[in-house]
Amino acid sequence: MTKLYIPVLAGTTREQRKSIHAARLVAEIGASFADIETELIDPKDFNFPGDGNDPEGKDPRYSAITARADGFFIVTPEYNHAYPGSLKRMLDSELENYIHKPVAFAGASSGQWGGVRAIEALVNAVREMGLVATFTDMQFPKVQELFDENGTLLNEAYRKYTTSAWTELIWMAKVLKAGREHEPSKYHQ
Ligand SMILES: Cc1cc2nc3c(=O)[nH]c(=O)nc-3n(C[C@H](O)[C@H](O)[C@H](O)COP(=O)(O)O)c2cc1C
Repeated sequence: MTKLYIPVLAGTTREQRKSIHAARLVAEIGASFADIETELIDPKDFNFPGDGNDPEGKDPRYSAITARADGFFIVTPEYNHAYPGSLKRMLDSELENYIHKPVAFAGASSGQWGGVRAIEALVNAVREMGLVATFTDMQFPKVQELFDENGTLLNEAYRKYTTSAWTELIWMAKVLKAGREHEPSKYHQ
């Protein structure tokens, strides 16, 4: 059976970003599931000229990733009670490739709320993209204390939380893939 492909999208390009440790952990745990393939997608590695989703505003590598994806796991920091512009810019560059695919969220912040407001803001945006949000959100509060400077996890309980979020996302990805393949829709063949 072909493995599901569910990339992890990192949420910021900030040089000193701490949420990248959470994103790497999520990708590492995702890779331990036998029925999926995953990789970390870092907005730093892509180029999206201008705004919008016109052909000249896309990065062909991101287009190929989203076309192939069966779902997404977004790991976002919270910036001013929302998500970073670089994440929105990356997400905005595509549209049809998202429709009827699931998305899970992890938030990260230096405070105690773990990015919940960024996640809440994202739910509105991804719905308009045709993505289907899971309800098993993850938070990485005080992210600077959860990982050391090398990105090593300091609280093993987060492996269990992350595994649980992945389990729900994978279930949703299987169900929606079957739906896309067997239930006709004007949005896909
Ligand atoms: C521009 C900016 C705005 C921020 N706004 C918030 C915020 O609204 N709420 C919050 O809990 N943390 C906020 N933070 C702190 C982040 O939670 C903190 O930097 C954390 O490490 C996650 O972001 P990072 O991946 O950029 O490091 C902000 C950080 C930046 C750079």
